[in-house]
Amino acid sequence: MIPPAEKIDSFQEKIFSFYRTSGRNLPWRKTTDPYAIFVSEVMLQQTQVDRVIPFYQRWLQRWPTIHTLAQADRAEVLKMWLGLGYNNRAVNLHKASQCIVQQFTGNIKEALESGTKIPGIGPYTERAVRIFAFNEDLVTVDTNIRRILIHQLNLPETVSDADLWQLAEHCLPYGQSRDWHNALMDYGSLVLTSRKTGIKPKTQQSRFEGSDRQIRAMILRFFLQ
Ligand code: ADE
Repeated sequence: MIPPAEKIDSFQEKIFSFYRTSGRNLPWRKTTDPYAIFVSEVMLQQTQVDRVIPFYQRWLQRWPTIHTLAQADRAEVLKMWLGLGYNNRAVNLHKASQCIVQQFTGNIKEALESGTKIPGIGPYTERAVRIFAFNEDLVTVDTNIRRILIHQLNLPETVSDADLWQLAEHCLPYGQSRDWHNALMDYGSLVLTSRKTGIKPKTQQSRFEGSDRQIRAMILRFFLQ
């Protein structure tokens, strides 16, 4: 499945021209510090951009480097996370910082390139950090990018992840991976929305109210008081 070159060119032009006029000004786009980007990517998993912004800013004020986070107290880490949900993300982020400091003297690039299993870092996050921090010629496919590819290339919603990632590679403008992924994420959240395209996300988040997650959060709040 290789889309024709003209189709790829016009797709790239459309996405970049949207980004030039309407791209979002998000705090993690003002930095190329891999630690800050790592924090943002973990927070952005399963959580909306608007909710993440204040948490991201508070977090970086409290723990501005991977070394400071590695030395933090677990209870304080959880307390800072309260309200974002999926609290095991905080535990894993904390463990990841300790692992990277102990094994790689805090060098995130080296840690990611080593192929070592790091808590909470799957293929999506690993690539997102390498793309946004180092502008590496890699692709990553989140729910927005998946929806754009399905819509743009007329794919069935049942398309496999392997096919999607391969198609994403064909569409990548070399040397512009950082801007390309930022642009795709904006186009997917602002223009080609799930509502507009009718393309459903692969994993639908369960309702929080009355859920096990809500009960776990209440228990955690109690213990952290
Ligand atoms: N979702 C995940 N990563 C993102 C990013 N860097 N910008 C906007 N939304 C995102």
